[in-house]
Amino acid sequence: MFEPLTIKGVRLRNRIGVPPMCQYMAQDGLAKDWHYTHYAMLARGGAALVTVEATAVSPEGRITPACLGLWNDAQAEPLAAIAQSIRQTGAIPGIQIGHAGRKASAHRPWEGDDHIPAGDATGWQPISPSEVAFGAHLDRVPQAMSLDDIQRVQLDFVAAARRARDAGFEWLELHFAHGYLGQSFSSTHANARDDAYGGSFENRSRFLLDTLRAVRRVWPERLPLTARFGVIEYDGDDERTLAESIALARQFKAEGLDLLSVSVGFSTPKAQVPWGPGFLGPVAARVRREAGIPVSSAWGFEDPAVAEAAIAQGQLDLALVGRAHLANPHWPYAAAQALGQPRAAWVLPPPYAHWLERYRPSDVR
Ligand SMILES: Cc1cc2nc3c(=O)[nH]c(=O)nc-3n(C[C@H](O)[C@H](O)[C@H](O)COP(=O)(O)O)c2cc1C
Repeated sequence: MFEPLTIKGVRLRNRIGVPPMCQYMAQDGLAKDWHYTHYAMLARGGAALVTVEATAVSPEGRITPACLGLWNDAQAEPLAAIAQSIRQTGAIPGIQIGHAGRKASAHRPWEGDDHIPAGDATGWQPISPSEVAFGAHLDRVPQAMSLDDIQRVQLDFVAAARRARDAGFEWLELHFAHGYLGQSFSSTHANARDDAYGGSFENRSRFLLDTLRAVRRVWPERLPLTARFGVIEYDGDDERTLAESIALARQFKAEGLDLLSVSVGFSTPKAQVPWGPGFLGPVAARVRREAGIPVSSAWGFEDPAVAEAAIAQGQLDLALVGRAHLANPHWPYAAAQALGQPRAAWVLPPPYAHWLERYRPSDVR
């Protein structure tokens, strides 16, 4: 985990990444002081990759009214400062761009997490491949996308990728996971179309592959282009979904994807996810082996020994540690100590390292 990793023209100082984590603190899609200090703090903590949260490619693509956006140039400005603050620490600044699809127009998690009622002016009409609601707390029926809508959203992805590039991000992640728009095209739980974008595996993959292809044209060849995808739903049809996901990962790779962030689909509230330490490790390993593409994964790698084992066993190229980084931005330092790594593996900025060589956190009472 403390060995560097090079992907394309980017060298990660170790194999620890902070995955995208929405802060729900933006106004009109604009990043605020909160975001600046949050990301600078995480980058100082020592992870090799700090990925800015799901950033919407269009206003209706936000999960909540307080989500970040990158649909105009004004939004790129504070994000450029954030990218710079991450880079200054020696970490690689990444950003996830996405569209929330039928899960859009929701209250913040701590304000209910459910859909904003239709008719409430703070919300908007969500769009999705088909008029099929997610269900449970997100029961608003989306509007089915026209072919023009599909083309417009793809152009929105391209424009956001261009802005991310110009803002200085060096790692782009397309959000094709977690039941949002990309995942919804892929999933039979959400996609009931009978045109070129629905039905067969080939048709359900079209939106994702076309979007990737279009973004690849504007994203610099020397920088990693990645995607997050839910390769499994835990809905009882997992062998089929996983086989399709591996086939899709191969096509992603052929279209120029450099790494797949392996996650869960979250396309149905009926999923029975087997939460537990490193539970996605064997799934990620299968994608890595059978699709021949570097992978990262999250959900349950907060125990340093579990993350280290997943990397040592070749399940993952990069371990993503989310909530444990919120609890302790210096998770990489704590992990190095827990694993008995030598001083050289410590990932602390000099103004902290000088003092912590003599005074370990455990000495502080
Ligand atoms: C506050 C919060 C916000 C999140 N926002 C995003 C997001 O913007 N994009 C995404 O792909 N996943 C998001 N996730 C999922 C995380 O990236 C990660 O997969 C999850 O927290 C599991 O990893 P962990 O067990 O190390 O926390 C979020 C998770 C949390 C806790």
